[in-house]
Amino acid sequence: MELTLTRPDDWHLHVRDGVDLGSVIAHTAQQFARAIIMPNLKPPVTTTGQALAYRERILAALPQGSDFTPLMTLYLTDNTTPDMVMEAAASKAIHAFKLYPAGATTHSDAGVTDISNTFAALDAMQAHGMPLLVHAEVTDAAVDVFDREHVYIDRVLEPLTHRYPELKIVLEHVTTQDGVDFVLAGNARLAATITAHHLLLNRNAMFSGGLRPHAYCLPVLKRETHRRTLIKAATSGNPKFFLGTDSAPHARERKESGCGCAGIYTAHAALELYAQVFEDAGALNRLEGFASQYGADFYGLPRNTGSITLEKNDWTVPENYPLGNSTLIPMHAGQTLHWRIKQ
Ligand code: DOR
Ligand code: ZN
Repeated sequence: MELTLTRPDDWHLHVRDGVDLGSVIAHTAQQFARAIIMPNLKPPVTTTGQALAYRERILAALPQGSDFTPLMTLYLTDNTTPDMVMEAAASKAIHAFKLYPAGATTHSDAGVTDISNTFAALDAMQAHGMPLLVHAEVTDAAVDVFDREHVYIDRVLEPLTHRYPELKIVLEHVTTQDGVDFVLAGNARLAATITAHHLLLNRNAMFSGGLRPHAYCLPVLKRETHRRTLIKAATSGNPKFFLGTDSAPHARERKESGCGCAGIYTAHAALELYAQVFEDAGALNRLEGFASQYGADFYGLPRNTGSITLEKNDWTVPENYPLGNSTLIPMHAGQTLHWRIKQ
């Protein structure tokens, strides 16, 4: 069996920098035409100048002959000014701002401490049609880690949609029924990305037979009922939901540690993993909208023109891949996948 799609895009991706960037970028460029590049480097990418320089480093790290466009983002901080938003919009290379609540996840120390500190920047983003991408989790230590998404929606995101009805907002890596319901109830400028790992795993994966650091990500995996809701949303054909892997490479020793980093690496087999989800849901005919159309439409970018073909053909995921001077453990390492990209 084969399935040919318009070339897809990844609307949420971490590729890091330096030698790590060189190790991972080929996986994404092999299957995706474009990807939204997250700005949570250390230090974060907060200015247009930094993003354009990062973009050049990504282009330089691509394998020869690859036809891949990085779509850059800026890291929103308490100090982002309307002028910085204007400069980003004028650059044409910067496609969104990413909002990390301070302390929510990997390299988020420079994030927003109080949403009201960003109101002037958000006014400018709304005026320039610049999307706001949100890591929607409260950092309040009093809130249970499994509740952080829906509490953030109640406390911050819902009020924000009323204050900025024209602002394009993406609830990144939605993980809960509450998140899906919130997106469904919103206007056409509110959308969500969905990762392959939140579609394929529930929270039991972190504890199956022992503690599994490679199944730890943020937002943390949720219970099975939420996973089923995500599958329904992704396979529904509703253009508010589109593909964003959140593939997040970390060196093996940073994951297998007394305090392991959050992140699951899926770039080695992203489309193959999503294809399995859509096949199991009887919705392979809806994969193209989710992977190749709705995200571009939301961002106001043209859909891609090339195509990619998947075939039903078993292969085994390698136990690890190089990451700079170390290795990373990919999702489903050593396991058999049934879909593969036809070369
Ligand atoms: O699991 C995650 N990893 N979640 C994030 O929000 C950040 C990401 C990373 O950069 O490693
Ligand atoms: Zn991310």
